[in-house]
Order: sequence, then structure tokens, then C-alpha cells
Amino acid sequence: MLVERNVPLQAHNTFGISAKALQLVRVQSESDIAALLADPQLRDAQKFVLGGGSNIVLTGDLKALVLKVELKGMRLVEESEKAWIVEAAAGEDWHDFVQWTLDNSWPGLENMALIPGSVGASPVQNIGAYGVELQDRFDALDAIDLATGNTFTLDAAQCAFGYRDSIFKHGPGQHIGASRSMGLAGRALITRVRFRLAKAWKPVLGYLDLEKKMAETGIDQPSAHQIFEWVCAIRRAKLPDPAVIGNAGSFFKNPTVTPEQCADIIARDPKVVHYLLDDGRIKLAAGWLIDACGWKGKSVGNAAVYEKQALVLVNKGGRENPCTGGEVMTLAKAIQTSVYERFGILLEPEPVVV
Ligand code: EPU
Repeated sequence: MLVERNVPLQAHNTFGISAKALQLVRVQSESDIAALLADPQLRDAQKFVLGGGSNIVLTGDLKALVLKVELKGMRLVEESEKAWIVEAAAGEDWHDFVQWTLDNSWPGLENMALIPGSVGASPVQNIGAYGVELQDRFDALDAIDLATGNTFTLDAAQCAFGYRDSIFKHGPGQHIGASRSMGLAGRALITRVRFRLAKAWKPVLGYLDLEKKMAETGIDQPSAHQIFEWVCAIRRAKLPDPAVIGNAGSFFKNPTVTPEQCADIIARDPKVVHYLLDDGRIKLAAGWLIDACGWKGKSVGNAAVYEKQALVLVNKGGRENPCTGGEVMTLAKAIQTSVYERFGILLEPEPVVV
């Protein structure tokens, strides 16, 4: 185990923000964690677990000890009459894992193709797209308790998944929703994630963009591979590729409101994009709200609102002249204020600000 100092993080966050880790350890095997915890100085240091860096905004150099997760490996754990259980190590790239499952004819993850980030980060924010969320396919995960070095396994209920939320997004001492679980942010390092892919596969096609693809192509019974291709095409058309334009995906969560609040907004803005949820509440498209306030293309320094999707903030300065985390957050606050003033809704950022 090597402790690297003053490590540039620009290549390790998809926004491409320039910042350093004062101390960084690459975790390539579980024995690296054991060695780290055996070191009296490192054992007690505050720790920050870094995966693919696709959901963070760096607002300065990281003073916590950065654990860069580089654990690799993908395997079929078990096959039963009903399902395949597949597992990937936390350092695998999420999209490569999705591709690998489909190449092996194990369908189920196709709607979540091309989501940037690592497998280890996927349960942290319960990633989701085009009608499927990680929690719908999740089996269990293994993690290491960074305080004790003990390994443990959590099932879906123990992860306390919510919309872009889990036990890993909350600090110790913080209760998660109605559950009695305590937050594990900074306390646990996810090593492996397992997914249950049902053999009775059913395509999930209820999302408008996928319905449009079916109508365009005339294919009404697409294979998982076809859906994978469609999702990749849809995402490439409207979301910026972080390798080209730095970004962290959707910057705000889609807010939910009561039917009364929604009726009030519709009375003033009849075109507001909204979806009825199972619990009777209504989800509003945050991208639409931001767009309606005229934010597309606006910027603060080199942080800008993406021209094609107002929910995505981008680094328009590239690698040479990147935006700062401060610029991103100033822009985000200005957006929050204007959406609040017009609609009375406070948007909640999705990425973790560090
Ligand atoms: N819209 C606008 N203007 C905009 C952006 C969106 O009018 O500038 C409208 C769209 O026309 C559409 C609606 O808002 O009617 C929703 O937009 P979209 O279908 O693009 O999805 P989204 O709600 O913006 C969510 C997820 C994405 C996920 C897509 C597809 C969140 C915060 N975002 O975006 O996830 O890929 O649905 O399922 O839930 C991410 O989390 O990083 C992410 C990209």
C-alpha cells in the first residue's frame, strides 16, 4: 500500500474540476484496507471514498485521506431456475458491467446503460434511468467497515434505498427516512455489488423516449440488446459525454409535490411536465422548471447550464481552463433561487459536494 501525496484529481472527477488529494491510497485489493487500518496514522484519519468521480463537485483540495477504489472483477455467482446472480467489484466501470451482462445474455440492466461512474458508486445514489432503478435489480453488496476493518453484507432493505439516495449518502449519526438505520457515508467502503437478473425478463418500455423509438422503428417487442442500443442513442443525443464536456449528470433531483401544489403550478404554467407517482404525489421535471426560468446556456465563470438539457451543469472551460467547484455551486444556488421564486419549489442537488 502506497500513500501518494498531492495527487491531481482532475482526471478522477467527471466535471474535470482541478483539485488535489493531499493523501491518496489506491485500493486494489482488500488487503490494502487491512494494511491501511494497521497503520496508526492512517487508521484514524478522516476518509473519503472515491469511485468514478461522476457524482461529486470538488470545491477545494481534499484534506481527508482519499481511498480510490480500483477493485476489479466480474462473475456469475449463481444460476437458479428463476435468476442469474451476477457480481462486479466496486472499481469496475458501470457501463462495461452492463455491456458484459448483455454480452452473456443476462438481461435486466439495459435501461441503465451508459450511466457514468463505477459499480461501487451505483448503490450510493441508487442510480436509475428510463424506468429502472438499481434497487429493482439489486441483490446485496459487500463492504468493509473502515473503523473496524470488518466486512459485512447488506441487502436492499438495509441499504435504505430512496430516489437517488441510500444509507451511504448520510453521515453516521443521521437516521435515514423512516428506517432506524444510521448513515454510513465515510464509514464504509463498498467492495462488491450483486444483482439478481430474473430469467422471466420483461422489457421496461413505459418511458416516453423509448416509446418514441418503438414508433420510429416499428419494433414493438425489442430485445434487451435493442433497448440497450436505444438507451445509448437517447443518452448520447441529449446528455453531454463527460469525456468531451465535463459534467456530473443531472445536477438536481426531480422534486415531488402534492396534487394541490401541482394544480397551483398548472394553473399558472399549464405546460409543466409532471408524472403521477404510485403514492398519489406528483413528480415534476426539474429540467423543465429550470428551462422555463430561461437558464439553458447561462453561465457563471466556466460553469454553465447545458444547452440541450437544463438539468445538467457543465464545465465549459475543458481541461485547460476548468470551472471551479465554487462557480458550479454559485450557478446552482442562482438556479435554485430563480426556480423557488417562480414555482415555490426548492430544488435539491443530486451530486455530493466536497
Ligand atoms: N425538459 C425540458 N427542458 C430541459 C430538460 C428537460 O423541458 O431542459 C423536459 C423534457 O422534455 C421531459 C422532462 O423534462 O419532458 C424530463 O426530462 P428527461 O426525460 O430528460 O429526464 P430527467 O427527468 O431530466 C431523469 C434522470 C436522469 C435519467 C433520465 C431518464 C433525475 C434527476 N434524472 O432525467 O438521470 O437519465 O431521467 O430516465 O432523476 C442522473 O441522475 O444523472 C441522470 C442523468
